[in-house]
Amino acid sequence: MANFFPRWTNLLPLKIAVCLIFVVAGLTAAFSYYATPKAQRVGYQPDQPIDYDHALHVDQLGMDCRYCHSSVDKSASAGVPTANTCWNCHEHVQKGSPKLAPLRAAMGVDEDHAPIEGAVKKPIKWVRIHKSPDYVYFDHSAHVNRGVSCQSCHGDIHKMEKVHHDKSLSMAFCLDCHRAPENHLRPLEEVYNLDYNAEKYLLENEIKNEEGERVTTQKQFGELLKKNWSIHPKESCATCHR
Ligand code: HEC
Ligand code: HEC
Ligand code: HEC
Ligand code: HEC
Ligand code: HEC
Repeated sequence: MANFFPRWTNLLPLKIAVCLIFVVAGLTAAFSYYATPKAQRVGYQPDQPIDYDHALHVDQLGMDCRYCHSSVDKSASAGVPTANTCWNCHEHVQKGSPKLAPLRAAMGVDEDHAPIEGAVKKPIKWVRIHKSPDYVYFDHSAHVNRGVSCQSCHGDIHKMEKVHHDKSLSMAFCLDCHRAPENHLRPLEEVYNLDYNAEKYLLENEIKNEEGERVTTQKQFGELLKKNWSIHPKESCATCHR
């Protein structure tokens, strides 16, 4: 009777324990892979090497996004400016500002802008905020050249003193617009104007549809632009996963 259970069952508790460890580890990995990035991404606002302020440069000084994100209408990635781009102005403006010490270091000059002997120019290490997973294909130029504004995907960057991740940029987020782009489309010259207001624009420009009726809402205007420009965002998997 003592050997009613075969010998191998002595190992059973161990096997169960090992299995449990794998299951728990697997679940944790799956959870952090699927759930955490999406849940925690919105609001992500890392410290940057320089307290660069979009609200000041865009809203107050009136700079265009393309001055710094110069490949946004030409290629897949928007691009982040080099130290030289900042230096165009800050060689002359706010010369001694302590806030700009990392910029001077990147340019290899001291507080009085005298070259530091032996210093090498090195890029500023901006912390990346928006990053799609590797299996996603995304192209900026395909959007901004078709009347989709930065604002639709990045929010009110022009009001941000410090950039945060504003929209989820999840698959559902992409598809919501691919299914109904009329809710977002705007005239090409307004893509970089984050103060754009569709109703105001329509009122001022007296836009009419093909029947000669006044267009008054974003949706009506979006439908008109979609038709005129024959915009058909794709929903097939291969569009974004190739
Ligand atoms: C004078 C240069 C400058 C201008 C003009 C500018 N930006 Fe930026 N932008 C930066 C720098 C530098 C960073 C990286 C540091 C940071 O996040 O603040 C950045 C970061 C960003 C990011 C986050 C990038 C990431 O890592 O995911 C977005 C989105 C962005 N800018 C959008 C815009 C938009 C939209 C405009 C126009 C309304 C604009 N920027 C105008 C310099 C500029
Ligand atoms: C077109 C000119 C221009 C460019 C390009 C530019 N800035 Fe500025 N920046 C200014 C002006 C003007 C001010 C405000 C000066 C003032 O308030 O007295 C300023 C202020 C600042 C300040 C605040 C300084 C302080 O002590 O208050 C920082 C930090 C700054 N800029 C960083 C940057 C960075 C980083 C870049 C490049 C990504 C950049 N700027 C590109 C014109 C520019
Ligand atoms: C249709 C949505 C969408 C629009 C419109 C859009 N972005 Fe982005 N942006 C993204 C996504 C998604 C990423 C992450 C891309 C990646 O990881 O490949 C991103 C990343 C960025 C980055 C950081 C990485 C890079 O590409 O260099 C910057 C800077 C940026 N966007 C600026 C802009 C500016 C400026 C505009 C408007 C002129 C704009 N974006 C319009 C969705 C958008
Ligand atoms: C606010 C609206 C909007 C959002 C959000 C949006 N798209 Fe698009 N997308 C469009 C429009 C409009 C087009 C252009 C369709 C056309 O030209 O007929 C497009 C085109 C594309 C294309 C085709 C580009 C090419 O080379 O043919 C890809 C890929 C794409 N989007 C991926 C994405 C991804 C990935 C996201 C989410 C991160 C996204 N889009 C979010 C509106 C949007
Ligand atoms: C308009 C662009 C777009 C299209 C079309 C698209 N996807 Fe995605 N997909 C994405 C983006 C963006 C992500 C990344 C989501 C994130 O970052 O959390 C994603 C993520 C995924 C994931 C990872 C799990 C998840 O939900 O995050 C799977 C699986 C997937 N897509 C399958 C598909 C299939 C199957 C199709 C066709 C029916 C499809 N996708 C069509 C943009 C797209």
